[in-house]
Amino acid sequence: MSDENSQAQPETTAQPDGKAAVAVATEKADTRPWAPSAAQVLRFADAEEVAEAAAKKVAETVKKAVEKNERCIVALAGGNTPRRLYEKLAAEPYRDEVPWTKTYFVFGDERCVAPDDEASNHRMAQELLFTPLEIPAHRVLRMKGEQVPADAARRYEVRLKDLFLNQPKRHFDLVLLGVGADGHTASLFPGTAALAEEEKWVAANEVPQLEAWRLTLTLPALNSARRVILLATGEEKARVIAEAFCGVKHDEPYPCERVAPYHAKREVLVDAAAASQIPPKK
Ligand code: 6PG
Repeated sequence: MSDENSQAQPETTAQPDGKAAVAVATEKADTRPWAPSAAQVLRFADAEEVAEAAAKKVAETVKKAVEKNERCIVALAGGNTPRRLYEKLAAEPYRDEVPWTKTYFVFGDERCVAPDDEASNHRMAQELLFTPLEIPAHRVLRMKGEQVPADAARRYEVRLKDLFLNQPKRHFDLVLLGVGADGHTASLFPGTAALAEEEKWVAANEVPQLEAWRLTLTLPALNSARRVILLATGEEKARVIAEAFCGVKHDEPYPCERVAPYHAKREVLVDAAAASQIPPKK
């Protein structure tokens, strides 16, 4: 476990495995309206340790939410980073110790492809999580990437409203997110229209950088979360981690930086490579 100093006074928090996770930077809450909660950056030696630490946090969050509300609603991240986390959650000890039968899964975003397409986030979660944990389809809200994007977004919005029916305040108990090298998260890419959405929870987002459409939860939806865990591993994420979460000066706020729910824990789990540009303690 890396214990280099960093810009902020590092605080070490004992981890269940006995290794100290050095919180390398706990930013003071930013004054900008969209960043009311501090981000806690936790550095781990490698991607495997990031996945193990994330699995522990997911398990703890689901157990607490089910104890409190008799159910838990988790928004899953897409892409490659969460793959190892999902494999861990579907294996011992998490397979048996977490109340998966009371857990509902939604998606942070989806590519506009068929569900059996290699690029589908749903397909990845189905293979690594839902099938091994025998999660029935009625507890998985699939974003229908095969439909016309605007229709799929509108229909997903209705399904989310049904999920929260009769609940005074709609919120996700946990949102899992990856971080792109350009600072995108879910499918909220820099400069794209969905970033400006302030009401709807789901958007069809045209992403010129990819020459593609995506379906994505919006900032209002992500910022409803009671807990946000962002995962980033690899050198290519180092600059955005240092700038978005560790106080290194940059111009435009990144989309990932704007996921900052009020009064919610926001943790950024990084491996040494993704932490490599975090400034040393002055
Ligand atoms: C997606 C994700 C996206 C992802 C980042 C990081 O559908 O691709 O939701 O936001 O989390 O692009 O991707 P990697 O984990 O593959 O680096």
